[in-house]
Amino acid sequence: MFCGPVDFVKGVVAMPGLPPADRVEVCFAGRSNVGKSSLINALTGRKNMARASNTPGRTQEINYFSLGESRYLVDLPGYGYAEAPVATVQKWQALLKQYLQGRQTLRRAFVLIDTRHGVKKVDEEILTLLDKSAVTFQVVMTKMDKVNKAEREANLAQTRAALARHPAAYPEIVMTSSEKGDGIETLRAIIAGLE
Ligand code: GTP
Ligand code: MG
Repeated sequence: MFCGPVDFVKGVVAMPGLPPADRVEVCFAGRSNVGKSSLINALTGRKNMARASNTPGRTQEINYFSLGESRYLVDLPGYGYAEAPVATVQKWQALLKQYLQGRQTLRRAFVLIDTRHGVKKVDEEILTLLDKSAVTFQVVMTKMDKVNKAEREANLAQTRAALARHPAAYPEIVMTSSEKGDGIETLRAIIAGLE
């Protein structure tokens, strides 16, 4: 499935703007700057497909990318960006909630956790939101190239412990580095296997 053409479809700011629910889709959620856009770029092999930047809160829309005719990859607005205006944050949260709980063709929500930081309070909020939705969610640890083995193991253990409180979470955690390519094939295979 990753052989087909990859295209940016559209950026969506409200539920009525979503493209027709006519194919399997997966989304990428996570704190601002955790590496969502970079991961989509790595998965699609297109360096600037999803905009990645150093400026937190850059992706403010739900961005749809198509993989051939069979899949949508969905880049969600980052949460937990403290400096964003309150009204903006509330608008994102409302949209995120509507999307996660109301999109019928959404087959898996990947929740990205920075390997350097583990699960934070804002991540817990999204995990709790996902507990209440019908979507299977799976944790993807990002930026594993930035930590040494000891830090990685410690934060992985902390993340596992946090996930144990969310029984709806998919048990397998995927460790990735968009920079070095670790875990990218594994994640592609997971996405390709969803029906
Ligand atoms: P928002 O759209 O603001 O929510 O951020 P995002 O989650 O899309 O993060 P983005 O992909 O823009 O990445 C943020 C920063 O982290 C960028 O400077 C990336 O280059 C860097 N980054 C992302 N993934 C990796 C990685 O695997 N390794 C390293 N070393 N840096 C990474
Ligand atoms: Mg982004």
